[in-house]
Amino acid sequence: MVQRSAGKVAVVTGAAGGIGSAIVRRLAEDGFRVVASDLREGSATEVAQEVGGIFQAADVTVEEQVAALVERAVKDCGRIDAIINNAAQAGALGPITDITADDWKRTIDVVLNSCFYGVKHAARAMIEAGTGGAILMTTSISGQRAVGGHPYIAAKHGLTGLIRAAANDLAQYHIRVNGVAPGYTLTPMTEKMFGGEEAARKVLSSRAPLGMVIEGRDIAEAFGYLASDAARAVTGQNIIVDAGFMEAQSRSISFQRDPDYLDHTR
Ligand SMILES: NC(=O)c1ccc[n+]([C@@H]2O[C@H](COP(=O)([O-])OP(=O)(O)OC[C@H]3O[C@@H](n4cnc5c(N)ncnc54)[C@H](O)[C@@H]3O)[C@@H](O)[C@H]2O)c1
Repeated sequence: MVQRSAGKVAVVTGAAGGIGSAIVRRLAEDGFRVVASDLREGSATEVAQEVGGIFQAADVTVEEQVAALVERAVKDCGRIDAIINNAAQAGALGPITDITADDWKRTIDVVLNSCFYGVKHAARAMIEAGTGGAILMTTSISGQRAVGGHPYIAAKHGLTGLIRAAANDLAQYHIRVNGVAPGYTLTPMTEKMFGGEEAARKVLSSRAPLGMVIEGRDIAEAFGYLASDAARAVTGQNIIVDAGFMEAQSRSISFQRDPDYLDHTR
């Protein structure tokens, strides 16, 4: 297999998780040396070792720790070509009238502010090196529709704005900024949400018009593309990988249900 990103270095946050670990493996297959980061040291260290990468602990809600993560990549691997801001938590659920300000702020911190820190510090390092790069975010269908908890939906919508704004700002340095928006994907996050793996598999396949269970690997493939030079002309975009979930929402309100509307001869 041709390693289209051989010699390059990528940082991946949330690397112990279902999607993060799949991204680490996918990027390593493409030749990236990967710095895998997570709060959960054990699993992230394992995935880093599996691909010959390195582990660095970081709480992505703390700007200094994200800055230190980028510094570690540059110091120990010599450069940073890509960062995948992937760590997040589902956050507070339930009616908006019951959500506390603290719960709201915690979710915005872990889902949205964390990505701002990643963009800022990776961009600084890339600008200093003058090599360009790819700054990527795991967004969500919750950034397109009101699916999930209120603060999570608001934060994921915010990521779309961050991607667009940063893409505009950083294009002059040949830094591309993009996102991948997973639909419901089988990971520890959704297993917890739907009451275990078996129950999650049933819910996930029933919500996917393609009748399948989306796995971390399906999401990682889109990141593999966006991190590579194959996507050299792509910036400010958010690729939806949802097995048809979003389009099914459009179909349910389609005018095709009203034959009279389509017949312009009457
Ligand atoms: N699974 C889905 O259906 C789905 C759908 C849409 C978007 N996403 C997004 O995909 C990304 C990965 O989620 P996942 O499903 O793999 O979940 P996951 O729970 O398996 O992985 C998330 C990882 O992030 C880490 N993390 C959480 N808070 C952190 C912090 N403050 N600092 C550092 N690391 C932290 C966790 O330890 C965990 O390993 C998230 O951004 C999530 O919002 C997931």
